[in-house]
Amino acid sequence: MAAQGAGADIVSAGEMQRALAAGIPASDIVFSGVGKTDDEIRLALAKNVGQINAESQAELKHIEAIAAEWGLKAPVAIRVNPDIDAGSHEKISTGQKSTKFGIPIEGGEAEAIYRYIHESDHLSARGLAVHIGSQLTDLAPFKKAYQALIALADDFRSKGYDVPILDLGGGLGIDYHGEEAPDFAAYGALVTSLFADKDYRLGFEPGRSIAADNGILLTSALYTKESDEKDFIIVDAAMNDLLRPTLYEAYHRIEPVQQSNRAKRTSDIVGPVCETGDYLARGRDFPSVESGEVIAVFNAGAYGSVMASQYNTRAMPAEILIHDGTVHVIKPRKSIEEILGDEHNPFAS
Ligand SMILES: Cc1ncc(COP(=O)(O)O)c(C=O)c1O
Repeated sequence: MAAQGAGADIVSAGEMQRALAAGIPASDIVFSGVGKTDDEIRLALAKNVGQINAESQAELKHIEAIAAEWGLKAPVAIRVNPDIDAGSHEKISTGQKSTKFGIPIEGGEAEAIYRYIHESDHLSARGLAVHIGSQLTDLAPFKKAYQALIALADDFRSKGYDVPILDLGGGLGIDYHGEEAPDFAAYGALVTSLFADKDYRLGFEPGRSIAADNGILLTSALYTKESDEKDFIIVDAAMNDLLRPTLYEAYHRIEPVQQSNRAKRTSDIVGPVCETGDYLARGRDFPSVESGEVIAVFNAGAYGSVMASQYNTRAMPAEILIHDGTVHVIKPRKSIEEILGDEHNPFAS
């Protein structure tokens, strides 16, 4: 991505260091998130990140105080909350007033805060940001949010405020059934229709739409338990490896790697973790599989490995990158000794 000229939208000091290590210039980094710590703000200012998206007056005051301490002007945009329902899963819808995200447009709060930035000696206004949620499969909420953003930005400009950048966030959804590609063309046409005759520099933060299809989780079947109602296909991957089905009731396309015309039965595909919520799929028509057979879970490249954990002291999967026909182990699987070695037992003799 860095080689293609992309910047990075980050939400933690760790992601900042990761983006910098990948070769993304600090000036092309946008620091988002509702809860940046003072240490993270210091690091962002020390590294000269291009834009910090503030999400509250309280956070802005911390950014200002740290910039003042260092005699700097921090480049800030504000993320606004347009109170729009993204129509996605409630846990990844971020545009309504009831969520923790952004500064409400309604009631003049966003304007008061933007004025505050202009009056500060240690803040410089970079613009406005919006991100109403993830896995949006309908363009209408984007349109509403962007129209609200334009109305606000135009109004701010008419009042003499600088609004160089509009950051349009991410959120474009993918088809987890694997039938259609993300509709970048339709999204692009919408953005063009709204912004072509406007003089704003635009920022885009696509995540899932460019990453999900690049990852496949491979798991092996362990056992099948048959019952009158359904089969349980127990596999060696679990909720700790791919949390999305458990967390969001998310659907992932799953298929045996060895394709054949086997009879299908209604099956839950479950992991070995000690929770009923540990499943990769429920009620699927799935072919009977042999013990040891490899099964592919598609679209695991976004919110997959990064949300994985070592729950039940399960080593996370190795990560393999296949690029231009060459196989690279980019994250080896940890041994149990390595996992235990990361911990300190104060009572060990
Ligand atoms: C501020 C912000 N921008 C962009 C994204 C990326 O969203 P998506 O992966 O849906 O494109 C997120 C995801 O949570 C986000 O919080």
